[in-house]
Amino acid sequence: MGALRECIQTPYNNHMPKEEKQTMTGDQLISLLLTLKEDLLLVIEKKDATSDELHVQIFGKDSEFTKLASSIRFVKKEDKQRVGIVLNEVKEFLERHINELSAHETGMENDTWIDVTAPGIRPPEGHLHIVTEAIEEITQTFKKLGFTRVRHPEVDWDWYAFEALNMPKNHPARDEWETFFITYPGAPDPKETKYTKIVLTPHTSNGQVREMEKGILPIRMINIAKCYRRQIDVSHAPMFHQFEGLYIDKEVSIGHLKGVMDYFAANFFGKDRKTRIRPFHFQFTEPSFEIDISCGICHGKARLPDGQGCKLCKEGWLELGGAGMVHPNVLRAGGIDPDQYNGFAFGWGVERTAMMKAGTQLNDVRTPYENDVRFLQQF
Ligand code: DAH
Repeated sequence: MGALRECIQTPYNNHMPKEEKQTMTGDQLISLLLTLKEDLLLVIEKKDATSDELHVQIFGKDSEFTKLASSIRFVKKEDKQRVGIVLNEVKEFLERHINELSAHETGMENDTWIDVTAPGIRPPEGHLHIVTEAIEEITQTFKKLGFTRVRHPEVDWDWYAFEALNMPKNHPARDEWETFFITYPGAPDPKETKYTKIVLTPHTSNGQVREMEKGILPIRMINIAKCYRRQIDVSHAPMFHQFEGLYIDKEVSIGHLKGVMDYFAANFFGKDRKTRIRPFHFQFTEPSFEIDISCGICHGKARLPDGQGCKLCKEGWLELGGAGMVHPNVLRAGGIDPDQYNGFAFGWGVERTAMMKAGTQLNDVRTPYENDVRFLQQF
């Protein structure tokens, strides 16, 4: 209490003669209250006493504040309301500061309290990129059929990307692959005929002969990798992903290929989805096909129940990608005797397959790589 007295310099009404008190105007009382408020704030901020002690000191029966407050009875009737408002404000002000001190003492700043039963706020959570997710799912789907995911170079000899795949130097079929050729240190060995140029792999088919060269048969591989082509527009990204399947064994038939395609379609896209094979041409397969999958929106009918044409597909089918029975020349390039072994291969775009699963057609295939979370969050 002594400390409190010392701090309070202003002679409040405790020391005032009674006559003076009785003639006090409303304005005088307000002025005294405001001065007391400032003084008491200093006392609170000094933190010499605990909040409980301060509460008694400031609002106790004999305190300056209580006595000053009681002087309101001498104020003229018409001033009482004004003084009353100030009195309440000063009281609330001081109480708030004592409470803050109390919160500080108990470690709960700003009068906050914790309701331990309240549901928590989930922190924002990211997820894998749609392409990474698709790669994982494709891997798992083929794994169930005994295919193993392997990695082969994404920067490779032109021989693996073309020549070994039955596309000799200057073959016009190469044009389709819009290839990036890159320079590498040291001149190619003039005696070298096979490994002469280096490419950024324009497709994952380079993995076929590389896998055969391991010399382990039968082969069931899934090679998933980045591919690069010199094309950039709404339907081409210069970097994209493919997954390449290769199955080599004895007496493999087109029926096996169709079976694997159907298994993939039902497991990856949904039970009701079917595949169909259409004749096509690739240098590295004979015969060659394009694989289509029944549209998930119109279910192969090309029309929606309301009679409107399906906006996602053409004629009820969506093109998945290429496939075929491995050409004997490719087997030979990989050191496999085509009279003993044969097999099938397929190579599809990961982005395209993922978007087809989502039932979406991108109006720009570069969108997944723009890192716009508004797009990526949808999947
Ligand atoms: N490599 C081909 C491309 O990029 C796709 C492909 C077609 C891969 C047929 C294959 C296949 O393995 O058998 O367009």
